[in-house]
Amino acid sequence: MTAPTDAKLKVWDLPTRVFHWLIVALFVVSCLTAGEAMKIHMLSGLLTFTLVATRILWGFFGSTTSRFGSFLKQPKTVLSYARQLRPGYAPPVFGHTPTGGWMIVALLALLMLMPMVGAFGNDDVTFRGPLSYLVDKQTSDALTELHEALFSILISLVILHVLAVVVYHFVFKEDLVRPMITGERPWRGPLPAARFVSARLALLLWLAMLALVYVYVLR
Ligand code: HEM
Ligand code: HEM
Repeated sequence: MTAPTDAKLKVWDLPTRVFHWLIVALFVVSCLTAGEAMKIHMLSGLLTFTLVATRILWGFFGSTTSRFGSFLKQPKTVLSYARQLRPGYAPPVFGHTPTGGWMIVALLALLMLMPMVGAFGNDDVTFRGPLSYLVDKQTSDALTELHEALFSILISLVILHVLAVVVYHFVFKEDLVRPMITGERPWRGPLPAARFVSARLALLLWLAMLALVYVYVLR
């Protein structure tokens, strides 16, 4: 089937969009509270962990466009896509841009790792991570340093990520942000086949993650 010229096509399911914007909000909270309000820092970080872990499961069991298998492309595909980019034009893609796929994996991996390492850390004053009792003080200090080093990498990638979105908007005239909000993008030509999985499954997976973190980390 072919879409009419002004058609809107659903690309992102609700869970993927909600995960993204919650992760962004919690990232801001984690940055603002680091070293200041450690209880809130811990909670926002652990919430990030539950969302990212669910998003990773969604990358295997979720909707077509959210699956790693659908958006992680081989280097030659990424290169051939990048060669077609020119001012005012980006080849239309159903889902993540091939150039963005591996960046997304890196962002998700760091967003998982940071809370995992932070949970063993301490702030040398009153705060001890909920898992820090499992290691000695020296190891806890080293893991706090690792947590801070991982943050330097994460913030660099976040800046690149946001810059890429801005470049797509102004140089290639492709609005990637609106689809991440509404779930839809303009589309011409043949309609790609896609399966959208019920948001209820994502909610169940997330609740399970929350329960696991509560039982094994916070209790
Ligand atoms: C206001 C700032 C931001 C904007 C406008 C933005 C926008 C976007 C857009 C448009 C996409 C989809 C890209 C594509 O179509 O290929 C995306 C994906 C993504 N962004 Fe952002 N982003 C922002 C901040 C962040 C931050 C701070 C993080 C992490 C801390 C982040 C992590 C991610 C991740 C992990 C994905 C993949 C989404 C998924 O497949 O679930 N973003 N972002
Ligand atoms: C994605 C989630 C997280 C982000 C983005 C984040 C970010 C940060 C940042 C920016 C710092 C300050 C680094 C510096 O001073 O150079 C920090 C410190 C720290 N974070 Fe996190 N964090 C996250 C999750 C967590 C979690 C879940 C915990 C604990 C359960 C935690 C525990 C700590 C500790 C103990 C410190 C050291 C504070 C100090 O030395 O004053 N973080 N984090």
